[in-house]
Amino acid sequence: MKNIEISKVKLTEEEIEAAVDVLRSGNLRQNGQCDAFEREFASAVGAAHAVTCANGSASLHLAYMSFLKPGDEVLVPSFTFMATGSMVTMSGARPVFCDIDPETFLIDLEDAEKRITERTRAIAPVHLFGNPVDAGAVADFAARHKLSVVWDAAQAHGACWDNRDVGSFDDFVCYSFYPSKNMFVGEGGMICTNNPDYDAKMRLLRSHGESGKYVHTLIGFNYRMTDVEAAIGRRQLLRLDRMLAQRRANAEVISSGLKNIAGIRPQKLTARGVHGWHQYCVVVDAEQFGCNRDVLAERLKGKGVASGVHYPRGLHQQPVFQELYGPSSLPVTEKTAETILALPVHHGLTVDDAYAVVEAVRQSRG
Ligand SMILES: Cc1ncc(COP(=O)(O)O)c(C=O)c1O
Repeated sequence: MKNIEISKVKLTEEEIEAAVDVLRSGNLRQNGQCDAFEREFASAVGAAHAVTCANGSASLHLAYMSFLKPGDEVLVPSFTFMATGSMVTMSGARPVFCDIDPETFLIDLEDAEKRITERTRAIAPVHLFGNPVDAGAVADFAARHKLSVVWDAAQAHGACWDNRDVGSFDDFVCYSFYPSKNMFVGEGGMICTNNPDYDAKMRLLRSHGESGKYVHTLIGFNYRMTDVEAAIGRRQLLRLDRMLAQRRANAEVISSGLKNIAGIRPQKLTARGVHGWHQYCVVVDAEQFGCNRDVLAERLKGKGVASGVHYPRGLHQQPVFQELYGPSSLPVTEKTAETILALPVHHGLTVDDAYAVVEAVRQSRG
């Protein structure tokens, strides 16, 4: 029986050659490949500017640092990866954790609204698992409360809302190219923006605020990408559509197969959205399905099908945030964290593998 993994990274020969060309050139630092990757990525997503950086966490940090002031507050969904919240803290501001919608697993704007104070400066919606947040609703919300928007698109390469790539939205769109992501170069990140001032500021912050040779006008970081990763990224951009098409084909098979399995509820797709299928997540109703999420994961493993739990707790349940900001309760996040399971959907699988995933779930009932 073939083992079906939850994610599988394999560079193509062309991507490896592109990296080797850079290695042979001896030009290992950030240089022409990064410039070209920025232009090509911006053009692919429809953004005015794109800034390469060291990883997805750095992309969030650069975005937050370019406008937040100490004491500011940022509305962050609790159900996300650590960096969406921790990079707010690292910027001297405070993440205010919000609950999620029980069906889409995305930020609940009604809950977020209740948490607005006179210090609220921004909202950081996350296109979780590749499911795009309703950008129209976020734009209204941000305009009403005069907030900036930092989109966490680490998991959403290729996702669209209302026929627009999520990379084209205001004010900042932050990507990761970590090996499990829809695009993967090793370690890497990118921030897209339509604002030339933010573009300039993030470029300065990325490289120690150096505005001229050994002239520093800001305190910044070394958050640069190297040309090796950029060369891989440029080459990989050419097959992004094909990889996404495979993810979507696999997701379609899984969605139609799971329809008739009681107790398994897949993530609800956002209206007018095109999902990027970074992860195919379901919540398990133990009573209806006959066993709970953890038992299902074990049974799938026994059948050679890997699965994953993203995330087993909300950010408000993380010890460090409880210590910093005190305890809080976000019931939908907590319930989802207890019952969610990610099934394999990645581009390295065939639709036959996707059928096998459904069959393995079906056989794990009871
Ligand atoms: C939602 C989200 N935000 C941010 C990040 C951080 O990206 P990186 O691991 O490249 O720093 C990740 C990566 O796992 C993520 O999933």
